[in-house]
Amino acid sequence: MIYDEITKTYPVSLPEEEPARQYAFMDILKAELADRMQRENRMFTMHVETFGCQMNAKDSEKLAGILSYIGYVPTDSEDADIVVYNTCTVRENANTRVYGRIGYLGRLKKSHPGMRIVLCGCMMQEEHVIEKIKKSYPFIDVIFGTHNIYMLAELLYRREQSTKCVIDVRKEADRIVEDLPSLQKYGFKAGVNIMYGCNNFCTYCIVPYVRGRERSRNPIDIVRETEMLTKNGVREVMLLGQNVNSYGKNLEPGMSFAELIREVSKVDGLQRIRFMTPHPKDLSDELIEEIAVNPKICKHVHLPLQSGSSRLLKLMNRHYTKKSFLALVDKIRERIPEVAITTDIIIGFPGETEEDFEDTLDVVRKARFMSAFTFIYSKRSGTPAAEMDGQVSEEICSERMKRLLDTVGEVASKEAERYTGRTETVLCEEYREDTGCVTGRLDNNLLVHFPGEKTLLGEMVSVKLSECKGFYYIGEQSSDL
Ligand code: 5AD
Ligand code: SF4
Repeated sequence: MIYDEITKTYPVSLPEEEPARQYAFMDILKAELADRMQRENRMFTMHVETFGCQMNAKDSEKLAGILSYIGYVPTDSEDADIVVYNTCTVRENANTRVYGRIGYLGRLKKSHPGMRIVLCGCMMQEEHVIEKIKKSYPFIDVIFGTHNIYMLAELLYRREQSTKCVIDVRKEADRIVEDLPSLQKYGFKAGVNIMYGCNNFCTYCIVPYVRGRERSRNPIDIVRETEMLTKNGVREVMLLGQNVNSYGKNLEPGMSFAELIREVSKVDGLQRIRFMTPHPKDLSDELIEEIAVNPKICKHVHLPLQSGSSRLLKLMNRHYTKKSFLALVDKIRERIPEVAITTDIIIGFPGETEEDFEDTLDVVRKARFMSAFTFIYSKRSGTPAAEMDGQVSEEICSERMKRLLDTVGEVASKEAERYTGRTETVLCEEYREDTGCVTGRLDNNLLVHFPGEKTLLGEMVSVKLSECKGFYYIGEQSSDL
């Protein structure tokens, strides 16, 4: 644990248990803010910005929940009374973006001296980042990492007792704190954490170093959260974990991910379940069977390939080969013919040859991915791949990226075409005033735009898929299914 520059002044008689202790800090800050609102006769605003993945987006909802409980009102503007940047460090460009934005916040703070700036998330787990912030950005108020986001109120309280930045970054999580407030981005769909951390140590990846070891949440808490969300109008949940197939391994008694998803699907009123992300090395037959037979589970599997070259997969520590990956895809398709398979691909991993890259293109064609997130390898210091020979030049990477995108585009639009003319149920997720169009998401994760009213938001409706535009459809609402 790195404790830094914190005062020891606490209010008397604080509860020791969590989350009661955090509620005590939230109540103190709430009373103080109410006083300030009255004195200054205005609302106080918050801006919570997420960088990175769905796990971070979920954490941001928890951070916004705490601030909302205290009395802050959300705003899209970064010129807010409190700004939280929930950062990502999976690739270098994520870090670069954050530094640029912090510089901008510093300029804003000059004309808004009471502003509080909070930095948290994966990037803050890296020592060199903390050093740089201390040196170059002295106007930051609070810094914490990924393991103690539940402490936001306590850390803000400590900041008010001090004249300096409060830094509390921990190496590991000592517990999972449940039952703090959350402010959902959407009323109709929500993420639910089922586990934290990762034990896989893929050689390019920084996540295990910044998110720590795997910890599964208790299934009772997961089901209870899903029930609560569903009661409040949520139709679709996304079960979140770095490697959901490992769910339950550290629980007593153990529980498989397939068993968990079956339990979650029993929640009344819940209509759709998605999950992110399974590792191809241990996607079980039990899970494939559950997806096939359980009508609430979306027929969509996000299966990160990373590379199609068995040689590189070994260097990446992925524990599967080109052949076994393709065999897995075949097995999934055989049992769930409707399934959409999507993926993540990295190009330019150290030592990647033209032949390795051709293997990746070959898998893209054979696996028939519906879409792919494609990344240029980014060197993360502290990971084994950062020390490997044969870093690939930018020029080769961008040339390969272009070819990869072309191939993915070709394959994906052919896959999407299959649904043309069909009528499918969609969850209405967005409405655009200017076009008068609603955007709905199909079970297989494709989007369809169709003329409709704003009142459809959050509803499940039938839509005829008239025209395939590659990655999305144009459609029309239909009364039949
Ligand atoms: N460089 C590029 N892409 C990466 N990913 C993880 N680490 C790196 C890295 N160092 C990608 C992987 C992973 C996704 C979330 O991010 O494809 O599946
Ligand atoms: Fe990173 Fe691999 Fe863990 Fe995914 S499974 S978070 S790529 S180490």
